[in-house]
Amino acid sequence: MKKAVVLFVVACCAVSVLSLAEEKPSATMSSAKQFDVSPSSTTSQPKTTTAMANTTTTTSKTTTTTPKTTTTTPKTTTTTPKTTTTTPKTTTTTPKTTTTTPKTTTTTPKTTATTPKTTTTPVPGPTPPTRVFVGSYNLTEKKVVCLRANMALEIQLSAAKVNGSFIVQPNETKTEGSCGETKANLTLVFKEGFITFMFNKSVADNTAYVDALSFKLSYSFAKGEARQEYRADNKSLHLFAAKVSHCYSCSGEMLYMGNGLYLNVTKNRMQAFNLTKSYDFGQPDMCLADKTDYRVAIGVGVTLLVLIVIVVLAYLVSRRKRTDGYQTL
Ligand SMILES: *[C@@H]1O[C@H](CO)[C@@H](O)[C@H](O)[C@H]1NC(C)=O
Ligand SMILES: *[C@@H]1O[C@H](CO)[C@@H](O)[C@H](O)[C@H]1NC(C)=O
Ligand SMILES: *[C@@H]1O[C@H](CO)[C@@H](O)[C@H](O)[C@H]1NC(C)=O
Ligand SMILES: *[C@@H]1O[C@H](CO)[C@@H](O)[C@H](O)[C@H]1NC(C)=O
Ligand SMILES: *[C@@H]1O[C@H](CO)[C@@H](O)[C@H](O)[C@H]1NC(C)=O
Ligand SMILES: *[C@@H]1O[C@H](CO)[C@@H](O)[C@H](O)[C@H]1NC(C)=O
Ligand SMILES: *[C@@H]1O[C@H](CO)[C@@H](O)[C@H](O)[C@H]1NC(C)=O
Ligand SMILES: *[C@@H]1O[C@H](CO)[C@@H](O)[C@H](O)[C@H]1NC(C)=O
Ligand SMILES: *[C@@H]1O[C@H](CO)[C@@H](O)[C@H](O)[C@H]1NC(C)=O
Repeated sequence: MKKAVVLFVVACCAVSVLSLAEEKPSATMSSAKQFDVSPSSTTSQPKTTTAMANTTTTTSKTTTTTPKTTTTTPKTTTTTPKTTTTTPKTTTTTPKTTTTTPKTTTTTPKTTATTPKTTTTPVPGPTPPTRVFVGSYNLTEKKVVCLRANMALEIQLSAAKVNGSFIVQPNETKTEGSCGETKANLTLVFKEGFITFMFNKSVADNTAYVDALSFKLSYSFAKGEARQEYRADNKSLHLFAAKVSHCYSCSGEMLYMGNGLYLNVTKNRMQAFNLTKSYDFGQPDMCLADKTDYRVAIGVGVTLLVLIVIVVLAYLVSRRKRTDGYQTL
């Protein structure tokens, strides 16, 4: 009885530790930090490509460390489980090691599965159109940065005749527009066209959001096809909303703009009004998708903690019963 209970507690602890280890990176706060690093995509290209392909920052973080561990694990597969079993401090019984070892072995194939991706992506890396870059766009007025946006932009066409995408190249894009008291215009101009974000600040609601989004693109989505002009102009929107003096933060969004055209906004951080004194972003307001991720992670963690507490209580009760003389076993 006692052994079984202890075993269960240890198993719960192991599961919770594992789940917490997985949860922490999924917390969007860390991904926000990632966005800061990404504008310097020209220098650290392999890292950004992994972050682009997979919106979850967990993969990019693990891939940096895995190349070293994957080379050692195939040879010493028996030594690695031993090191991981040392983490449960109160465990002395042997059955625990057998329960924890399958978990550690299942995690290692995952890391080995991600490493081929990183090795394959840098190979076609030099071709820029297939890569999404996070741009850092600053709108400056009277030598003051009044609007900032860090994001990767992609216009996608999904039609019966053609499927394709146009990726905005930040180093070939100019930031234009204007900032007003309650309105701001961020226009990104590239040689194929432009994308305009119109921001509105509602003092009454203490929110800032994009109320109009438009683009013009002269591009050939399919090889061998003539260039075509694509236009989208959406008004009366309520996108990228954040509190005034906060920044909007979202790992990825796909906006339908009509006529089979989509605007993919990934690794987005933007703020139009009340930047900090050092022209930096304010506190991030997560988009709903990132928020729910975070809430699910917290929910799982709390549930596991409650389970552990119940198990520990059950163990204590059973021990007290035994000292009282009600030995049931
Ligand atoms: C990583 O990105 C690749 C290419 O877009 C995709 O095939 C793969 O499923 C992604 N992996 C994860 C874990 O999201
Ligand atoms: C935008 O402004 C921030 C803060 O001043 C700066 O770190 C960043 O390099 C700027 N980006 C560009 C493209 O000028
Ligand atoms: C484009 O994708 C859509 C949906 O996936 C599909 O129905 C259509 O046939 C595709 N068109 C081409 C030209 O591949
Ligand atoms: C922009 O970056 C891409 C990829 O890093 C590079 O191929 C291209 O030459 C750059 N363009 C300019 C104008 O710097
Ligand atoms: C936004 O700014 C661009 C560039 O300055 C300008 O061409 C465009 O007309 C402006 N749009 C609106 C709606 O003010
Ligand atoms: C901006 O927001 C205010 C307050 O919600 C609203 O009255 C106004 O019509 C909005 N402006 C635009 C251009 O949508
Ligand atoms: C566009 O964005 C959505 C949502 O973030 C993502 O699932 C999709 O893969 C993106 N498409 C491309 C071509 O990057
Ligand atoms: C933009 O307008 C099109 C056509 O009116 C509509 O189908 C689409 O849902 C709109 N997109 C957004 C993000 O509101
Ligand atoms: C934002 O800036 C305006 C004027 O620059 C100021 O009146 C307002 O109080 C600021 N709002 C916040 C929430 O900081």
